Amino acid sequence: MGQITKEAIHVVQLISRDKLFSFQSLAITFIVNVKDFLLFLQLIYEYKFSLVSLAFVYCLNPSTTSIMSLLSAKRNGLTNLPQNGIVIWIFGLSGSGKTTISTLLKEKLEEEGFYTVSLDGDILREGINKHLGFSEADRTENIRRAAEIAKLMLKNNLITICSFITPLEENRLLAAEIIGEGYFEVFLDCPLSICKERDVKGLYKNAGLNLIKNFTGISAKFEPAVKADLVIKTYTENPDQSMDRVFSQIISKISSHS
Ligand code: ADX
Repeated sequence: MGQITKEAIHVVQLISRDKLFSFQSLAITFIVNVKDFLLFLQLIYEYKFSLVSLAFVYCLNPSTTSIMSLLSAKRNGLTNLPQNGIVIWIFGLSGSGKTTISTLLKEKLEEEGFYTVSLDGDILREGINKHLGFSEADRTENIRRAAEIAKLMLKNNLITICSFITPLEENRLLAAEIIGEGYFEVFLDCPLSICKERDVKGLYKNAGLNLIKNFTGISAKFEPAVKADLVIKTYTENPDQSMDRVFSQIISKISSHS
């Protein structure tokens, strides 16, 4: 418990006296600490905290840190998970390694004690998105729904790994806009020729035979990353190395002490 300062007691006295957000109490709080005052305002407006509860926190630990942690807890949906949520949006051509790296990353995060959820294009397309195809409009809707689900996960403070081709920059911008702060974009950069060689699911062969319409990279557009947070050349290293690269970039963001 922090030291109860004269200023903190003064703030509590003021607030508990009139319980109202009076101009006078605001003015005096302002004099006490400009930084705290701004945070008070932010919390009241954004999250409808009452002044009394804020003053109580301030009284226990009269520092902006305690108020900041309250703000971050509220942003994270007040869950008690010992982690900071994030949405890791992994995109790239079919065969670039999305599912492989996501699976390894999920295992690693769970070993380290993080609570993790995985959203994968193939899986969502079997369920919630099963009526969507591969036209640009359907892909946009696929990404919009995935991003909305990821946003709900983020609100609950979960580490969410999304694996979608997300072929167009406008799809990525849409996901980033829906998810907001906490969106972390990873581009798996792998030349089409190598993805075709890998052809794990035999889809490139069928697309080449014109048996699959609108196939990404063959008969549908794929735009490489414009401003990804991380670009990984999956053809120059093994999947474990690629996974480690993502892990080392996000670990400081998801650790609860950061
Ligand atoms: S996205 O373009 O809308 O982001 P998403 O990642 O959900 O695509 O789905 C891609 C998966 O659907 C591929 O891994 C592949 O297994 C399958 N698929 C089936 N048809 C196509 C197609 N025409 N283009 C790309 N992927 C396809």
